[in-house]
Amino acid sequence: MMQRAAVETGRFITFEGGEGSGKSTQAGILANRLTRAGRQVFSTREPGGTPAAEEIREALLSGKVWQYGPFAEALMFSVARADHVENAIGQALLSGKWVVCDRFLDSTRAYQGATAGVPRALINALERITLSGLLPDITFILDIPPEEGLARAAERRGVQVPDRFESQELMLHERVRRAFLDIAEEEPDRCVVIDASQPEAMVAEDVWEVVLNRLSP
Ligand code: TYD
Repeated sequence: MMQRAAVETGRFITFEGGEGSGKSTQAGILANRLTRAGRQVFSTREPGGTPAAEEIREALLSGKVWQYGPFAEALMFSVARADHVENAIGQALLSGKWVVCDRFLDSTRAYQGATAGVPRALINALERITLSGLLPDITFILDIPPEEGLARAAERRGVQVPDRFESQELMLHERVRRAFLDIAEEEPDRCVVIDASQPEAMVAEDVWEVVLNRLSP
């Protein structure tokens, strides 16, 4: 099992947020900046990040696991995460790399836990098994009103932006947003909420300032 060693390890930064929050873009910008600052960077994502976890990603995103319910999904995301931590993230950190990950444990808390109703005690138990005590040094929660995020995502896909979103879908996104904000409130030392409705460059500046202040890259 992975242990953070006494020797200098890398740092672990995760990005979380809803659809159209721009987290993948921001993760990429941060990775570039860290590289320019002279750090070795491992950029990764969840679900995925190792060959086994990428296979599980396919099963999850295709909806094959969905039919078995949210608990099965939580289990599968956790199986993928355990492999990712054990066989990629942990090793990268031990070799001094800075790890930038697009989604991590908070997505399971927000989607399978708070939104789909898997009890917190079960989510906690899964975290104990999958993380071996590893938590991100900083988690950026990219916060954006769902109407704006969904409109951005639709625009990016080249779909005409609808006037109204189906109310149930919007409600779901509201719950995910609320869940991420609740996590940030519970863990203020780890989580930083960023206003993701700002222009991309300003979001990137906010992120970089936090990294400079907290982790001195
Ligand atoms: P992805 O195509 O990576 O979308 P996004 O750009 O939104 O990150 O799909 C990942 C999907 O998986 C996304 O809808 C969130 C969901 N997810 C969970 O439900 N639980 C999890 O633990 C993780 C990591 C992702």
